[in-house]
Amino acid sequence: MSNFFLNLFKQLPPETAHQLTIYLLKLKLNKTIKKVDDAILNQRLLGIDFSNPVGLAAGFDKNAEVIVPMLNFGFGFVEVGTITPQPQEGNKKPRIFRLNEDLAIINHLGFNNKGSLKALGKLKALNNNQSFQGVIGINIGKNINSTNAVDDYLYCLENIGCYGSYITINISSPNTPGLRDLQLRGQIENLVKKIKKKQAESELLIEKPIFIKISPDLEDEQLRDIALMALANNIDGLVISNSTIKRSNNLISENKNEIGGLSGKPLFVDSTITLKKIYTLTNGQIPLIGVGGISTGSECYEKIKSGASLVQLYTALIYQGPKVIAKIKEELVDLIKTDGYKNIKDVVGKSV
Ligand SMILES: Cc1cc2nc3c(=O)[nH]c(=O)nc-3n(C[C@H](O)[C@H](O)[C@H](O)COP(=O)(O)O)c2cc1C
Repeated sequence: MSNFFLNLFKQLPPETAHQLTIYLLKLKLNKTIKKVDDAILNQRLLGIDFSNPVGLAAGFDKNAEVIVPMLNFGFGFVEVGTITPQPQEGNKKPRIFRLNEDLAIINHLGFNNKGSLKALGKLKALNNNQSFQGVIGINIGKNINSTNAVDDYLYCLENIGCYGSYITINISSPNTPGLRDLQLRGQIENLVKKIKKKQAESELLIEKPIFIKISPDLEDEQLRDIALMALANNIDGLVISNSTIKRSNNLISENKNEIGGLSGKPLFVDSTITLKKIYTLTNGQIPLIGVGGISTGSECYEKIKSGASLVQLYTALIYQGPKVIAKIKEELVDLIKTDGYKNIKDVVGKSV
């Protein structure tokens, strides 16, 4: 996307710009363009081959509609969702706000999505496409009016989980009341045990890695509980982190006091601290996806040195457009080579 278009999009209300982007991306050919990444970025993790470690974070492609064009931009993997069992509108608009001076976004979308059935159609079509190759994460959540959160996760797992390369259990979005309580000790353990049981019962799911996406706002004691729970229940990976409800004093943009989750540059430090803590608490035994405030190759490198095997981004895409992906990968390759490492894997956790 040229700077002209990027600047044009920035003149539109953020949600309109996003809808238009999805609309235009859907017009693109659904044909995978095979891009070759530098072999230094290739890794096999949890039985999945990642051509590069830079993924698209959940929330951009909520309905699994633009997986191929996003992979064609150079992402190593795309996490779709959050998908809930039933379609839902989400919160009242406006619900996405740009914090231009802070290179950040605040959103309180509230899982607006077309529901699991629509997503299933898209995912099935891709699955039937012989020429498709690509890593897809499926991020699942609960409906706002659901009376049984666990059942919602089990429903999504059972109905769409097998179409992903991995599944992410999102219990950390700040915009669904009560969702983040699922991170509390008793609740998370109950949820995870039921998910693991459902997985064990299904041949189609048994091999699918299960990740849990956590908040950057957790206290140390909660982080310890989650780390122990993840180790005890063979959780395959953790996504660290979702957006934050905290507001640092140095935000300067007009929209800084809007309600919702803050993402982008100001989230980098806290999400990286959480990442490091979890890497230490799990003795580096559980693969981690580092998310939050990445907009350059060196920030990506820092996440990996802090314990992430993979990374994801979203907000940087809003401010820089898709060219940011190639730029980050180029910088990353340079940094790895300069430090004398042979492969991305060798960098994981080096600064913890
Ligand atoms: C507009 C918007 C919508 C989002 N929606 C979701 C979502 O549906 N599910 C989810 O797990 N995370 C969602 N996120 C959080 C991102 O996946 C990511 O964790 C967070 O934005 C931090 O990364 P970033 O600083 O690179 O944007 C959303 C973020 C934004 C900006």
